[in-house]
Amino acid sequence: MNDGTARSLVIDNIGSLVTNDPALGRGPLGIVDDASVVITHGVVEAIGPAGAIADERIDADGACVLPGFVDSHTHLVFAGDRAEEFTTRMAGEPYDGGGIRVTTDATRGATTGELHRLTRRRLDEAQRTGTTTIEIKSGYGLNVIDEVRSLEVAETYTPESTFLGAHLLPTEFEGRSDEYIDLVCGEMLRGAVGHARWIDAFCETGAFDADQCRTVLEAGRRAGLGLRLHGNQLGYGPGVQLAVECGCASVDHCTYLSDDDISALAGSDTVATFLPATDFSTRQPYPDARRVIDAGVRVALASNCNPGSSYTASIPFCIALAVRDMYMTVDEAVQAATLGGAAALRRTDVGHLGPGSAGHAVILAAPSHHHLAYRPGAPLIARTIGPLAGLADA
Ligand code: NIG
Repeated sequence: MNDGTARSLVIDNIGSLVTNDPALGRGPLGIVDDASVVITHGVVEAIGPAGAIADERIDADGACVLPGFVDSHTHLVFAGDRAEEFTTRMAGEPYDGGGIRVTTDATRGATTGELHRLTRRRLDEAQRTGTTTIEIKSGYGLNVIDEVRSLEVAETYTPESTFLGAHLLPTEFEGRSDEYIDLVCGEMLRGAVGHARWIDAFCETGAFDADQCRTVLEAGRRAGLGLRLHGNQLGYGPGVQLAVECGCASVDHCTYLSDDDISALAGSDTVATFLPATDFSTRQPYPDARRVIDAGVRVALASNCNPGSSYTASIPFCIALAVRDMYMTVDEAVQAATLGGAAALRRTDVGHLGPGSAGHAVILAAPSHHHLAYRPGAPLIARTIGPLAGLADA
């Protein structure tokens, strides 16, 4: 409760408020017209008609307001540039993940200050495009010192930091992948604990097989970490089934899914996280989102911002792709990028707006959430209210 001394903020004069709570408003997005949101000490105190009073007022000028986007999959801690790899790909080269080693060399060679500066710059991009909760993975260190260093950078900016030592076999372990997995599950994991909430692995031909990924996930679970997995990105494979078997919070990519994969997901708590900017940037097919959603699977949309397969932190871009190319409705795409991302991170405080939720919101320069897909590439984020503000200047 605001006792009168607490600093409160009202977002007033909202034309269309997306709450994601059908108990608060119309349809699955719980839309309230002509609304206000009062936020006290960062927590939503009340949703009501326009005209509420607080210490500070932001006038939404009749625009649409949504919960801040929850980007549940990024690789923001890295140095170097792979624009040339992208250009070669657009000329016909396939994506195979091998460029991860190029970024690993650059990341190992960067100073910690440089990694912080680069990460903050990418977080600023995310914030400017409406993201207020973000997951950040390690995975470009691939040795004990640089994986732990990457996690220390990540945890500076988010509680959702993920240990991804099993991203790719580093060059110095060529031909000795089981030895590398021992290192990941031993000294590297011991260094990661305390700096990460999650553990992840890349289950794919050319990266790590199902047994190796299971070993990593089980070691992470024993160490107290939550589980997530990269799976079914470059072809059909065991990733989704493994994620369900291990009870992962999320399996990410899901570009190639068999009927059995979809049934397994439908009978589980594992969220299927789509990363359409990756399929766009690697000229891959898009996931068959309709089939997945119609089977009752919980889905999320995330950016997968990384230097190789998806160098964008823009969730509005992902929403536009999901609607245009994956046949998700605008409501489904917006919900997947907010409530879906929260489910993928097992968070109940973010991804929706209502009394007691986090006061993380996006004010659009548009009258409705439909504009996020209708006007792709337009600067539609008028203001982001949430914890990532001001990082670029820090
Ligand atoms: O999610 N798939 C593995 N990791 C990233 C790509 C990383 C890279 O190419 O640098 C992904 O697409």
